[in-house]
Amino acid sequence: MSRLGLTDPEREARLLSRIIETISTGLDLGEVVQGVAALITETTETDVCFVHLLDDSGRRLVLRGATPPFDELAGRIELNLGEGVAGWVAAHGRPVVIDDDKLADPRYKYIPQLRGEDFTSMCSVPIATRPGHLVGVLNVHTRVRRAFTYADVELLHSVGGLIAGPIENARLHRRLAEREEAMERFAERVVLAQETERRRLAGEIHDGISQRIVSLSYHLSAALDALPPESAHHVTAEQIRRARALADDALAETRSAIEGLRPPVLDDLGLPASLASLARSFPQLTVEVDLAPVRLPGHVETAIYRVAQEALSNVARHSGAGSAVISLAVRSGDVELEIEDDGVGFDPSRLAEHPAPTGYGLGGMRERAELLGGRLEVHSRRGAGTLLRVVIPVKGAL
Ligand SMILES: Nc1ncnc2c1ncn2[C@@H]1O[C@H](COP(=O)(O)OP(=O)(O)OP(=O)(O)O)[C@@H](O)[C@H]1O
Ligand SMILES: [Mg+2]
Repeated sequence: MSRLGLTDPEREARLLSRIIETISTGLDLGEVVQGVAALITETTETDVCFVHLLDDSGRRLVLRGATPPFDELAGRIELNLGEGVAGWVAAHGRPVVIDDDKLADPRYKYIPQLRGEDFTSMCSVPIATRPGHLVGVLNVHTRVRRAFTYADVELLHSVGGLIAGPIENARLHRRLAEREEAMERFAERVVLAQETERRRLAGEIHDGISQRIVSLSYHLSAALDALPPESAHHVTAEQIRRARALADDALAETRSAIEGLRPPVLDDLGLPASLASLARSFPQLTVEVDLAPVRLPGHVETAIYRVAQEALSNVARHSGAGSAVISLAVRSGDVELEIEDDGVGFDPSRLAEHPAPTGYGLGGMRERAELLGGRLEVHSRRGAGTLLRVVIPVKGAL
């Protein structure tokens, strides 16, 4: 019977040249290892070949390729250094030959999926780029008993030496690619975070300062209208007109500004009192308040205050209602803010079709709520008023 080994230089040369062919195809690591395993089984007249490679930690072997049907186990069998015959070979850097009765060998470890009971003899050699520089371990098994010769071991050893370099390169290449990918993901997250922050700041300006200036301008107009007609050209009227022009300029400036701060009133009064003060600041609205004396983390308070501010200004601008109710409560670990009016109502399902031009109104409220793990509910119907509810989970709120 023909056998592998130096006794058959032709077969050996053929194996080595086909292996060189396989590893130079530039396939990925898994495919190269798979191809090499198939070649070795075929050419060495063994029944199965397993290729275990060291993982990135250098302390564990992972099965990376095998003769079918064991190829399906690639990536799913792991051995620590010193564990099993392959682990022993990896730890000692020396080949092992077992002709018969593996179970009697203390180095052998039975792994059910590898079906050791179907095979009798085995030979295991290190895959190393140079002595002491281990990349993995190569195992071949035969069903019928076979006495692996010194020449067999030598040949497998040289196959190991041949594939070690390309395997190591492929591994390094994969690691580099992984790092590059991680860098890309990191950059993406940074950009995303910047974007979120920019939007948050812009939202603050829109909902806070801008709305105040709008009210200011409104009051100035009302004052101008209240002046008797004969004083329309007096100094008072002129001053009010200038003040209103300034307010309009300021409004234009805030739109292009990029600053946002926590509303100072929150630090002075706390959330419930700030909401009560906010409720009094819409001259055309009577706002009833029902505010529990809750204390919440600063960023949650800011979010709720801003939502209330935008919601009330929507009531004032769009609902036509003369009164509204605002309530704040903590229920089973959630803080709930509700703003209800009995005005004209609207169809919330049509909002997506016409997002607010600035993008900070209802959309901004929803974003704020979701950023904090909460949600925004809009219940409204034409002619049936509007109820807006924001629910944000809070731990340990008082
Ligand atoms: N309380 C309300 N009563 C009636 N309609 C409302 C009410 N709240 C919102 N709407 C309707 O929903 C639309 C979207 O509101 P949203 O706050 O998102 O934008 P906006 O107020 O129009 O603009 P922005 O807030 O960006 O200045 C409003 O234009 C209005 O038609
Ligand atoms: Mg709005």
